[in-house]
Amino acid sequence: MAFRIAQISDTHLSAQHEGFTANFDALVEHLRAGKPDLVVHTGDISAHGELAIDDLRFARARLDAMGLDWVAIPGNHDVGNDPGLGDTPANAERLARWQETFGLDHFVRDVPGWRLVGLDTLITTTDLPEARAQMKALEAALDTDRHVALFLHKPLCEETVAEEDITYWAVQPEPRRRILELLTRKAPVFIASGHVHQWRDRGVSEGLRQVWAPAAAFIVGDTWQHPTSGSSKPVGYVEHVLHEDGRHECRLVQPEGMEIHDLGLLPGIYSPMKPLVAA
Ligand SMILES: [Fe+2]
Ligand SMILES: [Fe+2]
Repeated sequence: MAFRIAQISDTHLSAQHEGFTANFDALVEHLRAGKPDLVVHTGDISAHGELAIDDLRFARARLDAMGLDWVAIPGNHDVGNDPGLGDTPANAERLARWQETFGLDHFVRDVPGWRLVGLDTLITTTDLPEARAQMKALEAALDTDRHVALFLHKPLCEETVAEEDITYWAVQPEPRRRILELLTRKAPVFIASGHVHQWRDRGVSEGLRQVWAPAAAFIVGDTWQHPTSGSSKPVGYVEHVLHEDGRHECRLVQPEGMEIHDLGLLPGIYSPMKPLVAA
């Protein structure tokens, strides 16, 4: 029997944002009917967890109330962002709030034939002990005969693993190199991420299959965010089917009742968005 994972991402839950919660409720109703073996949340679980613990607690209660087995890794709105990117850097205080509500910020979970590994991509450029601990955990987890799947909040890269720009959207070049170095010991069958609020599956490129999950809460319209090559901007989730022999299929699922909110048209939730300048 294949193992079915529902990868959900970017729910941005908060008691203040009813539209996002309504999307989550529609998603959960769909998931309960389909009964995946595991729900993996790839971060930005909360809307403002980087500022206060309330949204993290709200989000944790919502995940528990799904009645489904789940694991989660944090996003930049849960533990802060890479230091240098914005006003809310990931640090010990923010991480402690996450740990209080969710526990560890990375995971290793074995399922039939596979090992699932989730990393916290927001602390990779910090000197926090948790940053070293998760790299050690990744190294140990890759010492396995199982097929490996890697879950991240930020994608490993936007277009190519060799890109050197430091951007808001992807793991920074230096930690990317460290992760890739470890992955030479055991290549993951796929890497699944969130954060970009776009769906993309370009198949295997540069030896890696990198799958981007769409957000559950909202998109960032083309006025404010360029679509990336091969991507689209629905809301929904990704179903991953893991066969014990290492075959893997995935597909975009867009449950009924989930509304496409455009963050650019919702002032007051985050900082106002600036329209892109036409090239
Ligand atoms: Fe997000
Ligand atoms: Fe994010």
